[in-house]
Amino acid sequence: MKDEIRRIAVNTGGGDAPGLNSVLRSVVLSAEQRGWEVLGITKGYNGLLGDRDIVPLDREAVRGIHHLGGTILGTTNRGNPFSLSMKMPDGTRGVVDRSEEVVANFHKLGLDALVAIGGDGSMELAHRFSKLGIPVVGVPKTIDNDLDGTVLTFGFLTAVHVATEAIDRLHSTAEAHERVFVIEVMGRYAGWIAIYAGLAGGADVILMPEIPYDLEHVRRAIMNREARGRRFSIVVAAEGAKPRGGDYVTQRRQSESGQIRLGGIGERLAAELEELTGKEARSVTLGHLQRGGSPIPYDRLISLRFGAAAVRMVAEKNFGTMVALDPPDVLAVPLEEATSRMKTVPLDSDLIVSARQIGVCLGDE
Ligand code: F6P
Repeated sequence: MKDEIRRIAVNTGGGDAPGLNSVLRSVVLSAEQRGWEVLGITKGYNGLLGDRDIVPLDREAVRGIHHLGGTILGTTNRGNPFSLSMKMPDGTRGVVDRSEEVVANFHKLGLDALVAIGGDGSMELAHRFSKLGIPVVGVPKTIDNDLDGTVLTFGFLTAVHVATEAIDRLHSTAEAHERVFVIEVMGRYAGWIAIYAGLAGGADVILMPEIPYDLEHVRRAIMNREARGRRFSIVVAAEGAKPRGGDYVTQRRQSESGQIRLGGIGERLAAELEELTGKEARSVTLGHLQRGGSPIPYDRLISLRFGAAAVRMVAEKNFGTMVALDPPDVLAVPLEEATSRMKTVPLDSDLIVSARQIGVCLGDE
């Protein structure tokens, strides 16, 4: 490893999340202060393959992007260089390991470190590349907030904000028509968005992967409200919510990463609840609305702090790590720790206890 840092790279991988551009700006501005050069690798690691697609990032390149959604570097869910799906010379599709090409190009470009911004999949890749000798610092991104080692990932609170606003809007129309509304939110196998937005939006029922539900409890919660004269109900369902003893609702087509694509629980629940309660039930799936657009101020702030912390960690040669929020601090945790397990909502957390205490139905009682 070289003594002095002169040139670093940065990339954004996996699904986008509000705040990516804010991290990029912070990394570039902090690195420039130290006299380092920054290169942006486009679309995850794809920019280090084949003909390479690298963009120089300087103060000018990141001007005014702190409040913009998406990522100026592009991103992909299909970018695992250790097992890339490719068209083979005989025309068939096959899986190829091109990780050595990434490492070779990294060194050819004279890079001293990589700041890898992404979710669980990207942190796993960062960890594998770190073991192959790339000095890497990770930055945790995902609206799902399911990365361990950090209290929050950036993007999550913006998704919660969008979902809460949607719940507020649906509340008034649900009440006007005396309907049951099921709002399906993202989050994959963790119920963070559902519990945060559900509580903030005053939902009557919140269903999440951590607590398999029994429809009878949901029916009863709706009918109890009815008996109290509240003739409408708001049900928030995480896309990963599942019935007791049952399975996730999935889409027929896989996502581009080859992962199972969750989705459809809202529609299913609305149909089942209409049948069970005799009330008109409608569903709304918020989907990618939760990922697009401007980050809320708090996400901009943690993105900015994460970017600055990542550059400090590079300067200290604290590699194989991920920046993490441990309020009020931002610190370094080993990538191994961050990727060893998924962070789900603890059943004994204050969130769950408070929800139960105010009478929100979580589907299990
Ligand atoms: O991980 C972020 C996320 O938005 C999940 O909440 C969701 O399940 C998934 O990505 C959707 O991925 P895609 O954009 O590939 O459909």
